[in-house]
Amino acid sequence: MTDRPKLTTSAGAPWPNNQDSLSAGKRGPVLMQDYQLIEKLAHQNRERIPERTVHAKGWGAHGKLVITGDISKYTKAKALQPGAETPMIARFSTVAGEQGAADHERDVRGFALKFYTEDGNWDMVGNNTPVFFVRDPYKFPDFIHTQKRHPKTNMRSPTAMWDFWSLSPEALHQVTILMSDRGLPQSPMHMNGYGSHTYSFWNDAGERYWVKFHFKTQQGHTFYTNAEAEQVIGKTREGYQERLFNTIEGGDYPRWKFQVQIMPEADAEKTAYNPFDLTKVWPHSEYPPIDVGYFELNRNADNYFTEIENAAFSPSNIVPGISWSPDKMLQARIFSYADAHRHRLGTHYETIPVNRPRCPVHHYHRDGEMNMYGGLASGNENAYYEPNSYNGALEDRSATEPPLRIDGDAARYDHTEYDDYLQVRELYAKVMNDDERARLHGNMGGAMVGVPTEIVERWFGHLKQVDPRYEAGVRAEWEKQSRDAGYDPNALPITGATPQTTKGDSAH
Ligand code: NDP
Ligand code: HEM
Repeated sequence: MTDRPKLTTSAGAPWPNNQDSLSAGKRGPVLMQDYQLIEKLAHQNRERIPERTVHAKGWGAHGKLVITGDISKYTKAKALQPGAETPMIARFSTVAGEQGAADHERDVRGFALKFYTEDGNWDMVGNNTPVFFVRDPYKFPDFIHTQKRHPKTNMRSPTAMWDFWSLSPEALHQVTILMSDRGLPQSPMHMNGYGSHTYSFWNDAGERYWVKFHFKTQQGHTFYTNAEAEQVIGKTREGYQERLFNTIEGGDYPRWKFQVQIMPEADAEKTAYNPFDLTKVWPHSEYPPIDVGYFELNRNADNYFTEIENAAFSPSNIVPGISWSPDKMLQARIFSYADAHRHRLGTHYETIPVNRPRCPVHHYHRDGEMNMYGGLASGNENAYYEPNSYNGALEDRSATEPPLRIDGDAARYDHTEYDDYLQVRELYAKVMNDDERARLHGNMGGAMVGVPTEIVERWFGHLKQVDPRYEAGVRAEWEKQSRDAGYDPNALPITGATPQTTKGDSAH
């Protein structure tokens, strides 16, 4: 006798034999009647779902958001009121690599947070950098194509990356951070998170404030050089998963300080930069970060697939007191994510436990594949349309956000009209020290080895406008590392043939 549970079919019937197939005679063949064998093989064929089109490789955990500061004059969001504590889940990721990619590749890191607030889920889907490569959503799919595999070689193409970046100087800021120490953190616990976009807060008086979200690592910034990362990857491709999982399992819970920068609504007309341009930060001296609280990760998922892979984060998930801004990139993201989730996880992805709000949900969507909850309108079977006379759920006008002030003619405005150099210069010349600049030169020069000279020279033209030392430093490294790798840096033409393909990560 044993007290272990009894094996059953998925329909719940006891299953007598999970070792031997049902065959006609000892040597086979198997019978079609062995429906449980067919069931096993059919389930196996359906174990994989589409991986995320970007940010496919990820690591996550559960935790809590704790508010210790007081920003109630800016926002009515219940989860952001003094003393509030909100359960949450975090998923960190690399952008370009597929699901099996090595964790320690140089790449931007995703920093996605889902807060289960009493007013619904608030998702903060950010990165570990405060800016992004492009400022117009038209360019996002093109940019991602340059990060993914070349259609013919099926390898990553540094030529494509540098061709695109050198033709898109708005990428300078993000590429500089990517090639700096912050482009290769030692673990997800050793990096900041940024909302990156400008979002907005609104309060009970109906006033709107622009806001930037910052999550500062309390574990310190630690990074690997490219050479160190190669050593790590040689030993394990799962270094982030190991560090994050084992740290939390050991009871040592990582924390991030939560800060916001606040800009009064009318200031947006006055700043020297467009505050809705995703390639720009708001200088700390102008808009100092305000302490709001912290979040802590303190529980690993019991099942990676159901709780981390099935997690669906979307910038469209906001709650009363928090909203968006006119940022064109953000506007595109408001559409894109829920669309991706419907494709990746199905129509009712929000009923998957990890995505399910922890507050009552009442809506009038009906039916559809994998609808497990019937109508969610009111518990009254007659209230399946709206308006109705059967006590179905009613709209909540108290959640109406203040009007968003916009003006201007509908047109396609030139997105290249902004300065792409000033803030990069601040970072390069004032924030970085000599050692950091030297590593930046080395990382960037090395990443361009094998790329046609014309493309590299185009990029150098941008670096020179940032700071002549930047151009000279990267040029010297590129020439040296090209020769070390057996290339003549002055004789790499754009041929029209399949481009040179070198090392395998997104930054090389
Ligand atoms: P500050 O001197 O007040 O801020 C500089 C910030 O740079 C630091 O607080 C730190 O951000 C961040 N930083 C330090 N080292 C690196 C690195 N290697 N790569 C990326 N960021 C780094 O000056 P400003 O606010 O005027 O900003 C100057 C420049 O700093 C900006 O142009 C931008 O490039 C960069 N920066 C600014 C941020 C902002 O929100 N203002 C945020 C991050 C970078 P943190 O405190 O977030 O760790
Ligand atoms: C993932 C689109 C810009 C952060 C994704 C996914 C899509 C997408 C389709 C996959 C979603 C899924 O399958 O679950 C876009 C578009 C962008 C854009 C269209 C620009 C127009 C950005 C920016 C940031 C960002 C600027 C950060 C500030 C993330 C993160 C994930 C992600 C963190 C992974 C979320 C997770 O862990 O599940 N993006 N993205 N993206 N994106 Fe973006």
